[in-house]
Amino acid sequence: MRDVKVGLIGFGTIGTGVVKILQQNKNIISDKLGTSIILKKIADLDINRPRSVKVDSSLLTADANEIISDPEIDIVIELIGGINPAKDFIIEALKKGKHVVTANKALLAEEGMEIFECAESVKRNIGFEASTGGVIPVVRAIKEGFASDEIRSVYGIINGTANYILTKMTNEGIDFAQALKEAQEKGFAEADPTLDISGGDSAHKIAILSMLAFGTKIEFNSIYTEGIERIASEDIKYAYELGYKVKLLAIAKNVNGEIDVRVHPTMITFENPLSNVSNEYNAVYIEGKNAGRNILFGKGAGELPTAVAVVSDVIDIARDVISGESGRMTPLSFKLNRIANKPLRAIDDVRSRFYFRFSVVDRPGVLSKISGILGKNDISILSVIQKGEKDGEKVSVVIMTHEALEKSVRKSLQEIDSLDVVVDKTISIRVEE
Ligand code: HSE
Repeated sequence: MRDVKVGLIGFGTIGTGVVKILQQNKNIISDKLGTSIILKKIADLDINRPRSVKVDSSLLTADANEIISDPEIDIVIELIGGINPAKDFIIEALKKGKHVVTANKALLAEEGMEIFECAESVKRNIGFEASTGGVIPVVRAIKEGFASDEIRSVYGIINGTANYILTKMTNEGIDFAQALKEAQEKGFAEADPTLDISGGDSAHKIAILSMLAFGTKIEFNSIYTEGIERIASEDIKYAYELGYKVKLLAIAKNVNGEIDVRVHPTMITFENPLSNVSNEYNAVYIEGKNAGRNILFGKGAGELPTAVAVVSDVIDIARDVISGESGRMTPLSFKLNRIANKPLRAIDDVRSRFYFRFSVVDRPGVLSKISGILGKNDISILSVIQKGEKDGEKVSVVIMTHEALEKSVRKSLQEIDSLDVVVDKTISIRVEE
């Protein structure tokens, strides 16, 4: 039986992990495939930097085209990330008849349809399990395990870095900057961690899961995204005292044909299983009309777990290479000519309970001004706690609300933040039961 040849573009953290898995699990892989996967070339702009894995220097090149135009290579693994030149490499490789495996969530979320259409038109496979949830097989679960059901919602924790930071802040009381530094040292954060912290990385991933789950195009820039940058240790502490943990959730729901997709910090009760998902772990709920609620849990980031997902995609595609089949399954599982363009639900129309932390001057009448504005905008207060007691100085007032409309919350906070007794911008966190 012929062997299967792969080329790797991108020899960074995950690329290094892929080489390790191919070397370390060579026998396991050939026991499953009945043949070997041969890593023929590795392209990276920097081929001299020392890596934590040994490779024959003859495999290394600084020119990705050597991989794309090598007629012997069956599968191209793209791990450079970002939109360009990754997009050109992938399209070129598909057009040259190669299958592609990628972990590139930004590219698939923002310009994925073009790539999926190209893959379908040339009948080549594109594997992207590693783009979302690290090693957790969430892409495969939605594409295959739940293929027969109508998926109602997909939601959970899908950024390891943000979860690591929030976990450290909760358990050790350390500040944001220190927790981020540790996440970077452990290799979970992206080269530029802004996307992890701002919620952009979770938005990329939930966009991909929404396309897969609901068979629809998603206008990436319309996804409501809020990060964890403004969450202070103080909020985490108060939330905990009230019986909640703060988690960065990515949520996608099909609400009667309207797709509600959003990413934001969320307070969840200790009873919610997501509250026990710690550090770089991810967890994703998949809820189907008949399947009910299911949860996948595992390592959502890190060199080797993510590399396992990449190489598992390579094995899956290698089976087609060996059998001579191709394009058995479309990239999104839905036939591309059946992909809809379902409307996204405007964030203004979403209803949630809220936690507010107002930074105000401790003076008579302040609370009545705030509650007056909330009441006028139809926001009902559930509880109020004042943290601190410094007559005439800054204190925190925490208010929990009943369910309120986003539009009304935004309007109220604008009005409240312009009061002269309000010292800093109000912190608001949505609360899920
Ligand atoms: N930086 C990502 C995370 C891992 O923190 O989850 C890769 O998607």
